[in-house]
Amino acid sequence: MRTHYCGQVDESYLGKQVTVCGWVHRRRDHGGVIFIDLRDHKGLIQIVCNPESHELFQLAEGCRNEFVLQVIGMVNERPEGTINDDLATGKIEIFAEKLNVLSKSLPTPVDQDDQSYVSEDVRLKYRFLDLRRSKMQSNIRSRHQITRFIRSYLEENEFTDIETPMLSKTTPEGARDYLVPSRTQPGNFFALPQSPQLMKQLLMVGGFDRYYQIVKCFRDEDLRADRQPEFTQVDIEMAFMDRDQIMSMMENMIRDLFDSVLQVKLPKLFPVITYREAIEKYGTDAPDLRIPMTLIDLGNSLKDTEFKVFGDAAKDKGSRIVALNIKNGLSLTRKEIDDYTHFVSKYGAKGLAYIKVNEAKNIKEGLQSPIIKFLTEDELKSILELTDAKDGDLIFFGAGKAKIVNDSMSNLRLKIAKDLNLYSQAWAPLWVVDFPMFERNIDGQLTSSHHPFTRPDVESIEQLIENPQAANSHAYDMVLNGVEVGGGSLRIFDKEVQTAVLGLLGIGIEEANEKFGFLLTAMDYGFPPHGGIAFGLDRLVMLMLGLDSIRDTMAFPKTQTASDILTGAPSPASAKQLEELHISVRKMIGE
Ligand code: AMO
Ligand code: AMP
Repeated sequence: MRTHYCGQVDESYLGKQVTVCGWVHRRRDHGGVIFIDLRDHKGLIQIVCNPESHELFQLAEGCRNEFVLQVIGMVNERPEGTINDDLATGKIEIFAEKLNVLSKSLPTPVDQDDQSYVSEDVRLKYRFLDLRRSKMQSNIRSRHQITRFIRSYLEENEFTDIETPMLSKTTPEGARDYLVPSRTQPGNFFALPQSPQLMKQLLMVGGFDRYYQIVKCFRDEDLRADRQPEFTQVDIEMAFMDRDQIMSMMENMIRDLFDSVLQVKLPKLFPVITYREAIEKYGTDAPDLRIPMTLIDLGNSLKDTEFKVFGDAAKDKGSRIVALNIKNGLSLTRKEIDDYTHFVSKYGAKGLAYIKVNEAKNIKEGLQSPIIKFLTEDELKSILELTDAKDGDLIFFGAGKAKIVNDSMSNLRLKIAKDLNLYSQAWAPLWVVDFPMFERNIDGQLTSSHHPFTRPDVESIEQLIENPQAANSHAYDMVLNGVEVGGGSLRIFDKEVQTAVLGLLGIGIEEANEKFGFLLTAMDYGFPPHGGIAFGLDRLVMLMLGLDSIRDTMAFPKTQTASDILTGAPSPASAKQLEELHISVRKMIGE
């Protein structure tokens, strides 16, 4: 239907006839001549419709924004004074000889002009129009480029793309399952995979020693800007590879990806820090290393302070007291400090003490703060030393239960860096390693820090059982600019270790056999040592394109309440469907 894309026609086609197709971006009536900017995903071109050609002119008069046209015409130079240097096609125009209206359009609720604001609800309801906008065109096409690069990298490294089932059994990754009822087995349900974790491990027993899949995963969990109920993983598994080999190969993939798609050179070696170091210095296991400032632990130097807020925290084992030195933070106003105090309160912090450093050498008069009166000169001196405070700095303090301090101060660090633009570099990838094997939930029950198939870093099963909370795992996360983009580990391939780990998680032999019997059985038949990783493709794309939400990386995302307002899903099933599935829906009280 077309010989060229609108955005492709340039001066080299002068005097030639071309056929272009696209959407009417704008139509202007200029004293008898009608100009139409015709748009496709490669750009805009100006079509000139002259009144001499009566029928064509009438058609052009009837055109409205977003009508779909086919135009055949001659490429001409634009007259002097009408050249548009902002457009790639700005020096030429097509003199229409034939115009076909292929499709009409109502006035659209989503304006194609990138500058105009459209609410996200409207964008999602009319996603097909939103996708037409140049921003979404560029996002989705860049996503494709990224996926294509990843595929080619993995294929060059002899990975085999293997599909795993969507109708499956639960794969515990810490979220709720999406369940699918079985018609043929009343009362039984499939679970959509939270990840292909167990299947990819079975592929290793099956002799496919390098597997990958770009695959949908389903997790029913609380949603945020970087979480969707249905998202895509670049899922990878390898046999006969140790941890460093896996990390190095994956690091190369990401480095080459950035170089190839963004022409960005990431560091030759990504820094590797331990989980404990990450928590101590950044209060989070996904630190943003673009921000130079760190949390400074003051516990040791304030053990004997009389200031109760600090003293209590310094003495309690489950608490901590940290400082955050904002270089040149003196300029922060009272109101800004109050706003930050309110900000940390959302994470449970009881307050946000601060010291303004007017003159670091003059402890008596050079400091300004509501808490100075509670601290001795020695204590103040040691705070200034540990925080490396200089004239003009402002030091914030967080004291209390470790979790609250870590949550509040790590987020405060991010917020202040954003507000004051304190980034020292554009990209900061790193690995976080040596995660604890287990965490305890509020009920005191052990839970996996990663998943139950992660290999513990212990010498014996006895050591693990004796003190499970002291055990680290062979897990590794890749973090980029404060976002966890990938997580993986070496896996357990020994049945005894696997049953011991499941046992510690409160899953006895019987339940283990019922839930993961297939995996345990496979461990009897030559399970090679193996490990792998999964990258969150949507998150990776979001970061690479500098987007605020993973929704903008997906053609058809869901809202924060996990619904699809385009199609109206989820929606009630018909009585017939429910009957076939042997399901009766219990109405909630109040409905
Ligand atoms: P994990 O649970 O860490 O590991 O997931 C891997 C990566 O997937 C991304 N991710 C998400 N992205 C968008 N929305 C979500 N709801 C969501 N949840 C996770 C993150 C994360 O780093 N089977 C293991 C991997 C392995 O061990 O090989 C797994 O799924 O970027
Ligand atoms: P208060 O004694 O509660 O009036 O607090 C004195 C100062 O310490 C105020 O500036 C509070 O913001 C601050 N503060 C109180 N609790 C904490 C805390 N848990 N962490 C950090 N600062 C705090």
